[in-house]
Amino acid sequence: MARAVRGYRCRECGWQTVAYVGRCGECQAWNSLEQFADGTRASVGPLAKRPVTAVPAATLSLADVPDEPGRRFVTEIPELDRVLGGGVVPGSLVLVGGDPGIGKSTLMLQAAARMAAKGLVVGYVCGEESPRQVRMRASRLGIAGDGISLIPETSLDSALAAAEGLGVSALIIDSIQSVYVDGLESRSGGPAQLSEAGARLVGWAKGNEIATIVTGHVTKGGEIAGPRLLEHLVDAVLYFESGEGGSLRVLRAVKNRFGATDEVGVFEMTGEGLRSVENPSAAFLEAHDPEASGCAVTALIEGSRPLAIEVQALAVPSPLAAPRRIASGLEVSRLHLLLAVLARRGGIVAGNLDVVATVSGGMRLRDPSADLAILVALVSAVRDQPLDRGTAFLGEVALSGSIRPVQQSQRRLLELGRLGFGRCLAPASTSPVEGIELIPVRSVKEALRMALAGGRG
Ligand SMILES: Nc1ncnc2c1ncn2[C@@H]1O[C@H](COP(=O)(O)OP(=O)(O)OP(=O)(O)O)[C@@H](O)[C@H]1O
Ligand SMILES: [Mg+2]
Repeated sequence: MARAVRGYRCRECGWQTVAYVGRCGECQAWNSLEQFADGTRASVGPLAKRPVTAVPAATLSLADVPDEPGRRFVTEIPELDRVLGGGVVPGSLVLVGGDPGIGKSTLMLQAAARMAAKGLVVGYVCGEESPRQVRMRASRLGIAGDGISLIPETSLDSALAAAEGLGVSALIIDSIQSVYVDGLESRSGGPAQLSEAGARLVGWAKGNEIATIVTGHVTKGGEIAGPRLLEHLVDAVLYFESGEGGSLRVLRAVKNRFGATDEVGVFEMTGEGLRSVENPSAAFLEAHDPEASGCAVTALIEGSRPLAIEVQALAVPSPLAAPRRIASGLEVSRLHLLLAVLARRGGIVAGNLDVVATVSGGMRLRDPSADLAILVALVSAVRDQPLDRGTAFLGEVALSGSIRPVQQSQRRLLELGRLGFGRCLAPASTSPVEGIELIPVRSVKEALRMALAGGRG
C-alpha cells in the first residue's frame, strides 16, 4: 500500500532521497533536489528509482523463436543417445564425469567417430594426451579418424578459436581439467579455472550453436573441486560408474535439460572399446549364482526402463571388537539401517559378523525399493542358506518392520518375468502380472519366513 512520504526528488533525473543533499546522487547536478509529499512511495538512498542507463538488451517474442524439437546430433551409440535424451543438442554443453580410467576418452572418441561418419565436422581438444596417444586408441577402436580434427591445445581460448576456424559442428574437450583460461592466476583444474572455463564454454557453445562435450575427473567421494563445480552451469551431466573390477559401465544422467534425468546407459568395456549392452538386466544377472548364499534379485526403475539387478551379501565372523560394514553400490547407512531392522523386527542379529553388501554391475541403489532384496540377501548370508533360485524380491522396508509398496511394480514384475523369475515376494497391495506368481508379504518376519522357505512357507 502506498504511504505518504516526504522526501526530495531531483528535478533533472527523478532520483529520490529522504534526506536533503546538495548534489544529486544519480546525475550529480548541484542544488537540483526539490521537496515532495505526493503520497507515492519514495525509495530510500541511492537505490531510489534510477533511470537505467545501460544499452537495452535485444528482446524477441517467444512465438518468433524457431521451434526445432528434433534438432539433435545422434551419436548412434544407442546407450549414449538414450542417456542424452536422443542425441546431443546443438548449442548445449554436456559434462561427462567419472573416475580416472573408467572409459571417458574411449566413449568420446567413439562418439566423435560416429558423428564424423554422419558428415559432421568434429573437433577433439586433446589437452590430456598427445595426438599419438589418441591415434593409438583410435587404431585399437578401429577408428580411421576421417572428419575428426585434433586440437592439441591446453589454452581454452586458442582451442576455441581453432574450433571456430575449422567450422566444427561438435566439439569434444578431453578434459576440462587439462585446459586453462588465459589471464587467471590459479592453476588449471583449480576451482577458479573450472568455473571460468565452464562459463566461457556455455556462452561459446550457445553463441555458436555447437554441440560441446567436456570430460572431467571425479575422485571416489567427489570431494575435491572438480566437475561438480560445473554441474549447475552445464546443460547435462552424465556420470560414468562401474562395479568392482567388472567390465560393465553405467552412464547415468544426473542432470539433463533436454531429457530425462536418472536415465542410465549400460556399456561393456571391451578391447575394441565400449559396446552398448542391449539387455542390461541379463548382463547384470550374468554372474548370478543361484546356489550361492547371500544373493537376491530385484528390479529397479532407472530413468525410463526397469532393470533387474542382484544384491550380494557376505557375513563372516569378525576378529574385530567393532565388526566391519562395507557397502558398494548402496549407502553404508542403508546397510546399518536394514541390519538394525533385521535385528529388532526379524530377530536375526549380525552383531559379531563382518558384513559386506554389493550391487551387480556398477549400479547404485538410490531409492528404497531394493530394501527387501537387501534384507533377504543379508539373512541368507548370515544363515549361509541360499534363496530359491526362481524367486525375486520387491519392497521397501519400514523401521516398523512393515513391507511397503514400490512405484511402478508392474513394470518391474514384467522385467523379472521376462528374465525367467516365476515368483516374487512383494507387498500385499501389489497388483498381479501374468506369468509371475506374487507372494504377498506384510512384515519383515513374514518375508523372512517365506524367503527362507523358498516362497512356500
Ligand atoms: N588394450 C585394451 N584392451 C581392453 N581394454 C582396454 C585396453 N586399453 C584400455 N582399455 C580400457 O580402457 C580404459 C581406459 O579408458 P579411457 O582412457 O577412455 O579412460 P578415461 O576415463 O578417459 O581415463 P582418464 O581419466 O585417465 O582420462 C582402461 O581402464 C581399460 O578398461
Ligand atoms: Mg581420458
